[in-house]
Amino acid sequence: MPLRIGVLVSGRGSNLEAILKAVKKGRIRDAEVSVVISNFDGARALDIAREHGISAFVIPSKGLSRSGHERLVLERLKESGVLPGEGLVLLAGYMRVLSPEFVALFRGRMMNIHPALLPSFPGLEAQAQAISYGVKVSGCTVHFVVPEVDSGPIIVQKAVPVREGDTADSLAARILKEEHRLYPRAVELFAEGRLRIVDRRVQVLQ
Ligand code: GRF
Repeated sequence: MPLRIGVLVSGRGSNLEAILKAVKKGRIRDAEVSVVISNFDGARALDIAREHGISAFVIPSKGLSRSGHERLVLERLKESGVLPGEGLVLLAGYMRVLSPEFVALFRGRMMNIHPALLPSFPGLEAQAQAISYGVKVSGCTVHFVVPEVDSGPIIVQKAVPVREGDTADSLAARILKEEHRLYPRAVELFAEGRLRIVDRRVQVLQ
């Protein structure tokens, strides 16, 4: 049985698209994206999912308690065969902090991508943080999700140089290109069973 993947999104969906293309091209083998869930109606990510023939659902977070929202998300994942302890959940621009209870269900089976070299510049607007701090190198990080935001065991990272005259937007665009390579790579490693978490380090098995 292929690995079943559920992707949680809130907006543009370019990382989702990169993952869908990698599955389609066979770069990520023995895996399928079974469901895409957005907490915002109108997220472009929903159109991208549907264009690829993937079931896509809106489960609004507004007007629902955190536990109420997460209960619905979990139901949807399970209905799509993305089961705790078996499936893989990907956060791809998902603008919600998940509860420790939800995170625990998918411990070691939920990833996030962040547009900075963690542990530098966690949280929102990481690229703008990097520009105003004046670092010469930033990049992107794929990590396993733990209850603390942008803090879990790091799977893969890619450095991106900051150029003279870069703005938050120009840096973000250059980082995004690398994100589109890095996230599929992390998923590929997971699908191949090559990631092992030891304490807070992730070993990549050859
Ligand atoms: C990306 O920059 C990602 O690193 C961050 O949110 C953004 C999502 O972009 N977590 P997209 O929706 O995948 O295009």
